[in-house]
Amino acid sequence: MTKYLSDDARKVTTHHLLAMKQQKEKIAMLTSYDYTIAKIVDGAGVDVILVGDSASNVMVGNATTLPITVDEMILYGRSVVRGVQHALVVVDMPFGSYQSNPFEGVDNAVRMIKETGADALKLEGGEEIIDVVRRIINAGIPVMGHLGLMPQSIHKYGTYGVRAKEDAEAEKLVRDAHLLEEAGCFGLVLEKIPATLAARVAGELSIPVIGIGAGSQVDGQVLVVADMLGMNKGFSPKFLRKYADLNTVMTDAVRQYVSDVKTCGFPNDLEQY
Ligand code: KIV
Repeated sequence: MTKYLSDDARKVTTHHLLAMKQQKEKIAMLTSYDYTIAKIVDGAGVDVILVGDSASNVMVGNATTLPITVDEMILYGRSVVRGVQHALVVVDMPFGSYQSNPFEGVDNAVRMIKETGADALKLEGGEEIIDVVRRIINAGIPVMGHLGLMPQSIHKYGTYGVRAKEDAEAEKLVRDAHLLEEAGCFGLVLEKIPATLAARVAGELSIPVIGIGAGSQVDGQVLVVADMLGMNKGFSPKFLRKYADLNTVMTDAVRQYVSDVKTCGFPNDLEQY
């Protein structure tokens, strides 16, 4: 049987992730936002759990990730941390919490780590945010970068389409990736970019590069847990593989429950005191 570094029962650290890249073991990362799901995801052997600001869409029902606040991310982060024993837990810093003022960014980062108990934070952007990235890392907090499609900049892009298809944007992305590595980031997420570009970045960087819609030639993959479990029927981008159809499973179960209650089929004699 193949022996993976991730079989080690100890808590995953940023050093494990680096070793996984060096030994060419792919890193499996998924989002979670609450205790119950995080416990299942962690127990099933995921290496990294991301408390993504996609919570804004998945948990709160917002159209974008922009409205979610530091307080809300802290609640989701703390709930996930309580359910996790093995995976490294990374929490997204939300829009507006680090872009305007690097000192405020460090204060928010320290607060998010103190109040969630998470292991690391993720920030979107390259050169524009490199100062605050350096300061957060200098404060002792591991940082993961995020380039390519950056949903916090959706109003700048105007679409959720594939990024960095043109040379100028691709070259900037490569420069930004190097800057983030030099600043001390322990890993990098690349979202929705051409697979060849993602492969180039993963090949040039020594830190692990995790892709979402970025092809297979990277060091690991991340998906939004509700999407890969098929909870959201209307969302089926090309990069998304649905590993279950929980929307149907849950709808059928709830329909059955409603019917049982209406017909006095639940509870039965064994289900009462
Ligand atoms: O917020 C999120 O879920 C993310 C992933 C898509 C990488 O940033």
